[in-house]
Amino acid sequence: MCGIVGYVGPRSALGVVVEGLRRLEYRGYDSAGVAVVSDGELHARKKAGKIANLDAELAAHPLPADGLGLGHTRWATHGGPTDTNAHPHVSYDGRVAVVHNGIIENFAALRTELGEDGITCVSETDTEVVAHLLAQQVAAGVDLADAMRLVCRRLQGAFTLVAVDAQGPRQVVAARRNSPLVVGVGEGENFLASDVAAFIEHTRDAIELGQDQVVVITDSDVTVTDFDGAPAPVRPFHVDWDLSAAEKGGFDWFMRKEIYEQPKAVADTLLGRHDENGRLTLDEVRISEEELRRIDKIIIIACGTASYAGLVAKYAIEHWTRIPCEVELASEFRYRDPIVGPTTLVVAISQSGETADTLMAIRHAREQHARVLAVCNTNGATIPRESDAVIYTHAGPEISVASTKGFTTQIVACYLLGLYLAQVRGTKFGDEIAALMGELATMPDAIARVLEGMDPVLKLAADFAEERVVLFLGRHVGYPVALEGALKLKELAYIHAEGFAAGELKHGPIALIEDGLPVFVVIPPRGRDMLHDKVLSNLQEVRARGARTVVLAEADDHEVLPYADVLVPLPQVSTLLQPLVATVPLQMFACELATLKGHDVDQPRNLAKSVTVE
Ligand code: F6R
Repeated sequence: MCGIVGYVGPRSALGVVVEGLRRLEYRGYDSAGVAVVSDGELHARKKAGKIANLDAELAAHPLPADGLGLGHTRWATHGGPTDTNAHPHVSYDGRVAVVHNGIIENFAALRTELGEDGITCVSETDTEVVAHLLAQQVAAGVDLADAMRLVCRRLQGAFTLVAVDAQGPRQVVAARRNSPLVVGVGEGENFLASDVAAFIEHTRDAIELGQDQVVVITDSDVTVTDFDGAPAPVRPFHVDWDLSAAEKGGFDWFMRKEIYEQPKAVADTLLGRHDENGRLTLDEVRISEEELRRIDKIIIIACGTASYAGLVAKYAIEHWTRIPCEVELASEFRYRDPIVGPTTLVVAISQSGETADTLMAIRHAREQHARVLAVCNTNGATIPRESDAVIYTHAGPEISVASTKGFTTQIVACYLLGLYLAQVRGTKFGDEIAALMGELATMPDAIARVLEGMDPVLKLAADFAEERVVLFLGRHVGYPVALEGALKLKELAYIHAEGFAAGELKHGPIALIEDGLPVFVVIPPRGRDMLHDKVLSNLQEVRARGARTVVLAEADDHEVLPYADVLVPLPQVSTLLQPLVATVPLQMFACELATLKGHDVDQPRNLAKSVTVE
């Protein structure tokens, strides 16, 4: 949510910043802007809409190419998506420029205070006050870094701020609280960004910043302090993917590329999970086995697609460990006074690791002394940093706003967690765990086979291009798959879609079925006859009422054929693992349908990746 870039070095700051913004545009695309400092003068350009609008503005009104600059791509919170509300915001005296991600909760009081000093804000944003507050300090002779520390101590809320002072030393200054910021360390140049994708083509060496820290970058140095100016600890890390991972590589959309990356993403997430004795290991566990044996309840918290991964995880974890497991939307968790304590394991699932709802939920859980384990795809993000243990999903960068490989790898990570807990608590024998790990190891191939058979799904999208309502049904782990299929269609194709537990349909929603209504039904593998047969009955119920059925079932499941208008064949896998193959055609269907409708698949309207406000 909002992408930020800062740069000091010998290259054209304008070029580095605009290219960086292009890679961060998935974080918000309501407006974009840049500021560069050249010969002691500040120059800024900003435009509502996507970066293409900023490109046009820069072509019409070029900026100097100096080695110092910052930029921003916005997902609007305070103030609509207009040119004036776009960042950077420039101070009343034209000296300081600021970009911001997050929400400054006490901005109204600060705005009134500035008004009393004769300074009027021109935008409706919460950000602009920071530009003026910093300018007041630097005008009084305070260095920008000290000014930033001082101002940050007065701010309430969540923020990443990046600022330049046109008349100060050659430096870019930034601060973070509850909002993402990483430093890219180059040779004779340094970068700041909301995530490493912005500078990955220049350097893979990065520094993760902690809470309430101020960082100053110059051509040769990176200095980090807390808000009082005391030196602060930092954690350098090396990014294990390169520029090609952040490019489309010949695909029309990042989403389509990321769908096709799933076999590798799943394989990478499974890699290196055994120690020399063949026992399962996780990435970072700061929870002792003794504590894990005492856990008597698991609560999975997540948002959106990640919460559906959590629903799948519940079935596997309860089955393998016999620990009661609840799944809760992160945005609801702390508002209902949840019952958590030292014997509760809270599992936070987040691709970005920055989702504010999830972050606030884990903080609440930790205050209640629960232990927190994060499932995350972003090294060094806030959620894993604030957790007691982490399982990283090694999916590589997920750039499309709609999550695909993020989802499947989250499910894999949760299976690993379930098996790890089963190992620690002795609820499964070693050979049973090894057999399940063996089966998981076959999943990349199974997903690859699904991807080879996408032609019917693409054709289906063409047939359904004019539909206004689509339903998805599933039972057991097929239920979260149905929810995910519906969410993908809503967010990409802007079609009203609903996912239902197949058995629940006859308790009301079946009234929606009318002649020709498209209904996708996820049929469980035949391994568990009762489950399979029940969903088969639900399929018959909707077919009998005129639904046009698209049936996802094992390729040789002949029992479904009389009730399937279209069959999407799935490979044979065990019931608990079926979401890994069944979700893929639904992702592709939504991607293709949105493409045919002429939508921007990677950047759906009103959305942003990494939702860093509650
Ligand atoms: C939908 C989607 C969102 C995210 C949700 C959580 O395609 O991507 O529903 O799953 O915003 O994001 P993370 O996993 O980053 O916490």
